[in-house]
Amino acid sequence: MKEDLISIECLETRTISELLDLTKKIKSDKAKYADALKGKSIGLIFQKPSNRTRVSFEIGMVQLGGHALYLGPDEIDMGGRESVKDVACVLSRYLDGIVARTYKHDDVRELALYAAVPVINGLSDRAHPCQALADIFTIKEKFGTFKGITLSYVGDGNNVLNSLVCAAAKVGLDMKIATPKGYEPAKDIVAIAKKFADGSGAKIGISNDPKAAARGADVIYTDVWVSMGQEKGAKARLKAFKDFQINDGLIKLAKKDCLVMHCLPAHRGQEITDSVIDSKNSVVYDQAENRMHTEKAILLKLLK
Ligand code: CP
Ligand code: NVA
Repeated sequence: MKEDLISIECLETRTISELLDLTKKIKSDKAKYADALKGKSIGLIFQKPSNRTRVSFEIGMVQLGGHALYLGPDEIDMGGRESVKDVACVLSRYLDGIVARTYKHDDVRELALYAAVPVINGLSDRAHPCQALADIFTIKEKFGTFKGITLSYVGDGNNVLNSLVCAAAKVGLDMKIATPKGYEPAKDIVAIAKKFADGSGAKIGISNDPKAAARGADVIYTDVWVSMGQEKGAKARLKAFKDFQINDGLIKLAKKDCLVMHCLPAHRGQEITDSVIDSKNSVVYDQAENRMHTEKAILLKLLK
């Protein structure tokens, strides 16, 4: 039976470990995998803009010997020009896999339901699992372990955080989260993450206090305050998030040499200052690079 990657919650902890191990191998020996997906093709159905997800999947697929086809909003108009089901059924006749970036999480789920080929969520309003896998790979790469490491997330309780907290809880990485009131991560996600944390021993703390979250952190992570599709609420968001900026003052509360992460794109001067994102402890470009290595592992696992 085909497997999809729709959210971190659906992945076994064992599968996450396998993906991280495979990523390490792929990253250290690119040539070995140069023909691994020869003759295979994927389609990238994107309803929203993208730099990292599009380029890393396209080039990752090429580096595996396969082919990737970008299908932006103008080409497919999934759910507009034709139904999600028809897109899923037709593309399954041409392709070996589909990466989808949608507004509605239900659209990527429906696509997976009807597609006969693996569907990978390249970001929806609820989840960004490929990002979370690259993020935890980056943390393991930097520290060599998850044990005893505290990842602090200061910002919006959005798709990126939803996937990150589930991934952290699964692999035993402690997390301290601070969001403004009303912008907490989804309640059901928190409940799921806490259940995973019970199994792994990870400590997951959620508050509305950015300073408390930053204190003693090994890694501080943030994302934009206004995600794609939330532009209408931008004014209220910018007001609500004003005390949640990652700046030099907040970084001082963390451990010395605390790493800085951001999924990018960053709105410099809003959620993060230039001085922090450009500091020597910022690993944002390693994180972006690792998107491609982890996605090659995902493609190998699902398409091989
Ligand atoms: N981090 C990330 O998914 O970036 P893009 O929106 O550029 O793909
Ligand atoms: N939360 C952001 C992430 C972008 C990669 C968004 O959904 O726009």
